[in-house]
Amino acid sequence: MASEFLGAARGLLACPVCGEPLDLVADGDRLVRAACKAGHSFDVARQGHLNLLGSAQPANADTVEMVEARTRVLASGAFDAVDAVLARRGSAARTVLDVGGGTGHHLARLLDALPAARGVSLDVSVPAARRAAKAHPRLASVVADAWGALPLRSRRFDLVTCLFAPRNMAEFARVLADRGLLLVVTPDAEHLASIRDTYGLLGIEGDKDDRLLRSASGHFETIGRQRVRSRVDADAALVRDLIAMGPNAFHGVPQDVEAIETRVAVSLWLFRPLR
Ligand SMILES: C[S@@+](CC[C@H](N)C(=O)[O-])C[C@H]1O[C@@H](n2cnc3c(N)ncnc32)[C@H](O)[C@@H]1O
Ligand SMILES: [Zn+2]
Repeated sequence: MASEFLGAARGLLACPVCGEPLDLVADGDRLVRAACKAGHSFDVARQGHLNLLGSAQPANADTVEMVEARTRVLASGAFDAVDAVLARRGSAARTVLDVGGGTGHHLARLLDALPAARGVSLDVSVPAARRAAKAHPRLASVVADAWGALPLRSRRFDLVTCLFAPRNMAEFARVLADRGLLLVVTPDAEHLASIRDTYGLLGIEGDKDDRLLRSASGHFETIGRQRVRSRVDADAALVRDLIAMGPNAFHGVPQDVEAIETRVAVSLWLFRPLR
């Protein structure tokens, strides 16, 4: 049952109202709510995720259609090379947080590779969180805004991952254990470039590497950067989904697309929290 998967977050959650630890409360074999000692209480959703947002999700959260497109893209194996590198770099972790975790796919693959680990997928999108709630028995799905105070206890995570998602460096450093590791995945200029060029999609900002390093300074020491490259022979359905899963979906997805060869081209950045 998906609500049991939420048990993976035991000892890791903090109350979004007062910051005190949140305990998970069961009714029979079902986890039904999370509550702090001060009496703040949050119901577990029927679909198994825990919503700690305390407000409506923002307009730019991923929609049901985007989440479905992303699910198909990830199931195609197009990003498997990224998952393999994450598993290698994160192999020492026992507690993992994936911020902007989307469908839970990447964290689930990481947990497959780390049999003793458990994790929290945090995302502001309810459709994404519903899907993540079913992604893996050791994965807890939580709805929260990465730009605010994370509803997570300090220094409890060995590993924080953030793939193509908002980065709140001060909060990432707070929730990481002293010898913890932050892995950030960002798109490089060649990422899916043939699709972006052909269909006039949003580009990748030129200064984004500098912005990443600037945002990390004061919170993290930069350990290194690994580039990941893999070829993708995308049929028309995959091309459409690659467009529909990202921010371009907010501007309309072209109906007539053709098969094309493209490349996943991303950087994996490694950071250690400053203490
Ligand atoms: C480009 S998707 C990447 C999803 C996932 N990391 C992956 O690679 O498959 C960005 C994700 O960040 C989430 N997101 C956007 N703004 C957010 C915020 N303020 N707090 C938490 N998640 C956010 C979106 O809902 C979406 O799931
Ligand atoms: Zn509280």
